Amino acid sequence: MGNCQINKRNIEHKIMKKRVLSGIQPTGSIHIGNYLGAMKHWVASQDKFDNIFCIVDLHSITVPQETGELRKKTRELAGLLLAIGIDPELSVVFVQSHVKEHTELTWILNCVTPLGWLQRMTQYKDKSARHEIISTGLLDYPVLMAADILIYESDYVPVGEDQKQHVELARDIAQRFNSMYGDVFVIPEPVIPRVGARIMGLDDPTCKMSKSETGQGHALYLLDSPDEIRMKIKRATTDSHRDILFNESRPGINNLLTIYELFSGKSRSEIEAHFQGKGYGVLKEELAELVIEGLKPLQERYREITADPAYLESMLKKGADKVRPIAEGVLRRVKDRIGLG
Ligand code: TYM
Repeated sequence: MGNCQINKRNIEHKIMKKRVLSGIQPTGSIHIGNYLGAMKHWVASQDKFDNIFCIVDLHSITVPQETGELRKKTRELAGLLLAIGIDPELSVVFVQSHVKEHTELTWILNCVTPLGWLQRMTQYKDKSARHEIISTGLLDYPVLMAADILIYESDYVPVGEDQKQHVELARDIAQRFNSMYGDVFVIPEPVIPRVGARIMGLDDPTCKMSKSETGQGHALYLLDSPDEIRMKIKRATTDSHRDILFNESRPGINNLLTIYELFSGKSRSEIEAHFQGKGYGVLKEELAELVIEGLKPLQERYREITADPAYLESMLKKGADKVRPIAEGVLRRVKDRIGLG
């Protein structure tokens, strides 16, 4: 591509709405960490940006999955995304494996990514310590994520704290490619919320709430029943202090208060004043009712949406059909630059 065309594309890019892209794995059940750290923000800024949300099933298979479950979970997640308020008129929702250009770009990016960059990734180190057999895919996971981001010329990538390192790696890969072959990729920026970027496990507030933790009291799932929510919050680990204050050195109470803050929309000082002189039992009871009420509308919408599987299927197909031409265009430019084809 000549310089003139590149400039034209960059100018067009600037005058169009900025593009937001994010992804989520259809593995396990979606919890309030996913919601408060990422999904909620996708909904809130939908009308300001050009949005693409990807259900990353190819990332899920980096660790073994049960046959049949993955397809089911992928549809469930599509239903949840609509239920939390993603509007298919404003945002594209699609399944990663439906746009094959992601994997082709991954191979190309693999060839410009030093191995040491991947071996340094915190999530790889954590996950590889937990699995007996470590697939090459697990090591390569962040390169596939870089491909997801770069193939759509994404400006912003809203994620929770745990994915920041991966988005930074995507920037490094883009910069390295651009310096080797000339400017092709837009350099993306991670967007991390000020509060809620790292919701902790209820059973162990020193560990991040995670889909792969299976302990019964670990996570609050978006589709949990009121009784499950009450029971999990009641059993949440706290400490032996009495006062109810935001304090990072008291991870259990801090986590419960952060969840309260995000579900209530109240300020920290209002919350601390409200709970002054009250015990942990009161906080837990009020928090449980707040979360139950907060999740109720999305649980109702979820039931309505998933009652029509054909609608979900056609929305996912339309989504992939809409973004595929963008991915094809970027991949074509990448291949031209390298001299492939
Ligand atoms: P995943 O599926 O693990 O998580 C989806 C989103 O939820 C955020 N998150 C949290 N936020 C706050 N507290 C928590 N305890 C918590 N747990 C998870 C994650 O940071 C994420 O934003 N690799 C990604 C998916 C992905 C992706 C992408 C994201 C693939 N390609 C391209 C952005 C752009 C992942 O596994 O997310």
